[in-house]
Amino acid sequence: MNNFLFENGTKAIFGKGCVREYLACFLRNYGDTVMLAYGGGSIKKNGIYDEILGILKTEERNIVEFDGIMANPTYDKVLEGAKLAKENHVDIILAVGGGSVMDCCKAVSLAARYEGDVWDNFWAKPGIIDFEPLPLGVVVTVAGTGSEMNGGAVITNEKRKIKTGRDYPICNPKLALLDPEYTYSVPVKQMVSSGFDTLSHIMEIYFSEPDEPNVSDDIAEALMRGVIRDLRSAIKNPQDYTARSNLMWEATMAENRIIKLGKRTDFECHMMEHQLGAYTNCNHGEGLAVLHPVYYRHICKSGASKFARYAKEVWSIPETGKSETELAYAGVEALADFIREIGLPTTLRELGMTEETDLKRIADSCACVQGAYKIMNNEEILEIFRECF
Ligand code: NZQ
Ligand code: ZN
Repeated sequence: MNNFLFENGTKAIFGKGCVREYLACFLRNYGDTVMLAYGGGSIKKNGIYDEILGILKTEERNIVEFDGIMANPTYDKVLEGAKLAKENHVDIILAVGGGSVMDCCKAVSLAARYEGDVWDNFWAKPGIIDFEPLPLGVVVTVAGTGSEMNGGAVITNEKRKIKTGRDYPICNPKLALLDPEYTYSVPVKQMVSSGFDTLSHIMEIYFSEPDEPNVSDDIAEALMRGVIRDLRSAIKNPQDYTARSNLMWEATMAENRIIKLGKRTDFECHMMEHQLGAYTNCNHGEGLAVLHPVYYRHICKSGASKFARYAKEVWSIPETGKSETELAYAGVEALADFIREIGLPTTLRELGMTEETDLKRIADSCACVQGAYKIMNNEEILEIFRECF
């Protein structure tokens, strides 16, 4: 394994009723003014808003509402939240939602405590944060990104057409409340998309060097088998508590740095998807589902032994009668079959892209990084986009 330092500043509290039980107690550690942040209104339909508002009122907090956080949150929305937080002297932010709400609030927590431009100084380059962001607590309502236990905030700068984010440990939420029942109302289409995002995180980490036997890859295989099993169960019965709880913790485990320890983790497919998102605002998990099989067909030969191990350990494909390369490709095709089975899109057209979409410009906007097993250049990214079209 490569050398590493492990730290995670988030306290995670998991399980049925955890918000009712622990939120008030957590808030007592901070000042009176709470910014209650959420998305487009799902929490008002499923009762989560009423439950949390009731707790805040009982605790006699001043409540500043920051609503309308969109999927794929924009930098303008971050600046709006920061202004609101500064004007109202907010003491703590409480983000209630999925990756988009959590990410937006992490960025607000920085921007509200910084006079300069957080995009230029932190998102566009890995600047050192030498100040304390506003404290943040999160209540997860859709499982997938794992944002609840890391310091990453993926933000779209609409003017510059860049979607990016970095994992700054100082931006980890102080508390993450994870009640699987809060995810029951997530529409199946979104549940599947966010669940695939989790699978993608694990695969992006797994398919990177070093490949010697290591704890991170062993845990990753167990997590991948789990996500596949639990998505199938939750599709059959969206109120399957076991499946929903596993999906929730699998999402957190994929992104709380544990399975990244000792690995290179380049997230090449995410980088391509983020740029598709920056130009077209496509759904994150769906974009990944379209790209992954095609991208893996491009890199499979260069990492054949790892893809063969994936075929055996994750998809239980028998190795008898197959060469290593055949087994490797069989693993990629098993993934493609699974994507179809759970109803995810398989083409960019299904995500709303048309002949007018300038795929070359998007491919050229992707910053090529050291690849999983093969460095992608802009020409090959364009080839992948065209094959996905
Ligand atoms: O906005 P509302 O009305 O709340 O509806 C949301 C939204 O439409 C809905 N939803 C959430 N909880 C619900 C619910 N609907 C019914 N019942 C509930 N309990 O779900 C929709 C999607 O929400 P969103 O937060 O956008 O989904 P997700 O959690 O998949 O987050 C995606 C964002 O996270 C970023 C993505 O790029 C994207 O911007 N990512 C963040 C990462 C991180 N910080 O570590 C890593 C990821 O790779 C990813 O890039
Ligand atoms: Zn993701």
